[in-house]
Amino acid sequence: MELQGKRIVLGVTGGIAAYKAAELLRLLAKQGADVQVAMTDGATHFVTTTTFQALSGRPVFTDQWDGRMPNAMAHIDLSRQADLILVAPASADFMARVVHGMADDLLATMVLARDCPLLIAPAMNRQMWENPATQRNVLQLLADGIKMLGPASGEQACGEVGVGRMLEPEEILEEVIAFFSPKVLAGKRVLITAGPTFEAIDPVRGITNRSSGRMGYAVARAARQAGAEVTLVSGPVGLDAPQGVERINVLSALDMHAAVMARVAATDIFIGVAAVADYRVANAAEHKLKKDTGGIPPIELIENPDILAEVAALEGAPYCVGFAAESRNLEAYAQAKRRKKNIPLIAGNLIQDGFGGDDNRLVLFDDAGVHPLPPGPKSVLSRQLIEHISAAVG
Ligand code: C5P
Repeated sequence: MELQGKRIVLGVTGGIAAYKAAELLRLLAKQGADVQVAMTDGATHFVTTTTFQALSGRPVFTDQWDGRMPNAMAHIDLSRQADLILVAPASADFMARVVHGMADDLLATMVLARDCPLLIAPAMNRQMWENPATQRNVLQLLADGIKMLGPASGEQACGEVGVGRMLEPEEILEEVIAFFSPKVLAGKRVLITAGPTFEAIDPVRGITNRSSGRMGYAVARAARQAGAEVTLVSGPVGLDAPQGVERINVLSALDMHAAVMARVAATDIFIGVAAVADYRVANAAEHKLKKDTGGIPPIELIENPDILAEVAALEGAPYCVGFAAESRNLEAYAQAKRRKKNIPLIAGNLIQDGFGGDDNRLVLFDDAGVHPLPPGPKSVLSRQLIEHISAAVG
């Protein structure tokens, strides 16, 4: 429930992406937001008000002259109650009208009368987006302090390919959550490792650790929502990169080491969440090992670099945070790791609860002592971890 208690006006304008606004509304409501929908006349040609009424549990407003408000001032009442107006999809025509301060329908009037921020997610044919008139309008909207979400590039409903697609509802949801998050890491650059590494034995076999990557990805997302510029160096996992996060894919610990070392100089905070393999195969075979030749193959292991310890030992090292997943003796092992790697903060968890779930239990260990966080979803724990880090880095 990352939007609990937030009052959002969802403006829907005329474009085929209007059907995706129904899914967006569902996602916002699922996160606890209280959503009031206002549609332009054009939008009602693509989707009916009934769809949005059913999903929001509220009457939908389309008409400036709607008699349902006792004072006949729907535009004032609805926008005054909002923490945010989000227009998705925003058509080229709607953007042009906002630029000129037009108040020729209910949504435009609400936007003009608002005293809350406005986010818009444009959606239009690529020629309409590229048209100099639209581009001038985009610049003016940005100059007026309006935040633009997208558009994305890709296949369009008209069959053309280019820039102008509305961001997907999940991506818009992420941006809205980020919008409401306190920007405790604004201006900071954060480098995060996540997932397992894979150490090849031969071209098809390897040694790996069990790690879904969910914790590292949740930390990356929370850091980005806190306003940081985030790079995620990720081992092989089946997850999408969080919105706005740069992701670098790696396979082995050596790849991960190289990717981290190439980027660490510009980093303020390094968070090692990856389950890095401690050893790699020294005698990895070039071709697939065959069972029927030569008996049980000898696998010779050599130690991998400790990425976190190496980063922490650099001159001018970033603020370093480690993770310790233990099956017992959490405090003793986590504290020993913190000292050995010479890092200020380590987040420990007992792996008794299994791998790969959405929930976790974390205990933070730093110079000030032991800080158990209440058990909860990885998203919430990540936010608390980011707050703890931001307090430490100032
Ligand atoms: O040494 P151990 O693997 O128990 O410590 C875990 C912490 O160290 C994690 O933060 C992990 O990302 C990091 N680590 C690393 N490079 C390694 C091994 C662990 O960065 N080779």
